[in-house]
Amino acid sequence: MVSAGDARKITIAQVLVYELRVRDAMSKPPITALPSDSLREIQKLMKRHKISGVPIQLGTKLLGIVTIEDIITALDQGHIDDLAEKRMAQGVITIRDHFSLVRAVAEFERHGFGRFPVVDSADRLVGVLTRGDITNCLMHQLEKRAEEAIAFEAAALASRAGDDLARRIVIRAPVRTGDYDSAGKVSQRLRQVLRERGIDPDVRRRAAIVAYEAETNIIIHSLGGEVTVAVDSDKVVIDATDVGPGIEDVNQAMQEGWSTAGRLPRELGFGAGMGLPNMKKCSDVFEIKSGNGQTTLVHSEVFLRKAASTP
Ligand SMILES: Nc1ncnc2c1ncn2[C@@H]1O[C@H](COP(=O)(O)OP(=O)(O)OP(=O)(O)O)[C@@H](O)[C@H]1O
Ligand SMILES: [Mg+2]
Repeated sequence: MVSAGDARKITIAQVLVYELRVRDAMSKPPITALPSDSLREIQKLMKRHKISGVPIQLGTKLLGIVTIEDIITALDQGHIDDLAEKRMAQGVITIRDHFSLVRAVAEFERHGFGRFPVVDSADRLVGVLTRGDITNCLMHQLEKRAEEAIAFEAAALASRAGDDLARRIVIRAPVRTGDYDSAGKVSQRLRQVLRERGIDPDVRRRAAIVAYEAETNIIIHSLGGEVTVAVDSDKVVIDATDVGPGIEDVNQAMQEGWSTAGRLPRELGFGAGMGLPNMKKCSDVFEIKSGNGQTTLVHSEVFLRKAASTP
């Protein structure tokens, strides 16, 4: 069974494989051998560096590759003292250091190899990439981003404490990624606060819808963020911020029915693609700022006397 947190990680990992490049994940510098080295020497090299494939290089020219499978065959068939040039695989398929990891994963699947020598745009051998390198790189990036999200929450709480009094902030709530159980908590509290302040029921309802959609979007689509609500003399102001990964095409995201929500949020009843359009409908002022790999900022204002002034 996949927990909410896992599902979120898979989605973020899917984003990361598009953003990250082969050069971010590869092992470098490459450990190489000469065509005049024996397979036995290469076996020792593999053991020493705990690697399973060695590109064979002369000068800057990549001539072939010797893998652990070649070594096992050589031991089995008694030619472990042969030179690399006699036994190496030639016509090696390489990948470029600027390829995205999603492309690299596709290449692994297409060719079934355990590793690729990596070449730069000048065809120089610059590293070696294994599936394990990709996994390590993704785990490292996920950890890094999770730490950034936590630091963001702490900094936001500390730096804006003074602001709260000046701006009449009534709610400041961190919202955690994948925390489906908490969906609706901010908006529920907001309803209560606005009721206590004697705010018009229609304004209350609209502000609560905006807050609800904002918090669920942070839970489902972001790495974590915060919702703040301020009550001014003439309006309720709702701001939602998060630490990314952002929205590539905001106009598309604003369309009714457009959603990137995965299987789990859909099973939980989210992902109709109606959140942002509803927020806009309920707001008197609505702004959204985002971009690929950026934070998403949503700003909404619901005017206080609007309902009362309508006949
Ligand atoms: N804070 C955010 N960070 C990243 N992407 C977001 C964020 N908010 C919205 N999006 C993107 O915009 C799309 C549309 O959002 P919207 O709230 O309209 O629909 P939804 O969340 O997918 O479904 P629903 O709100 O109906 O449950 C989302 O599927 C997602 O791709
Ligand atoms: Mg939504």
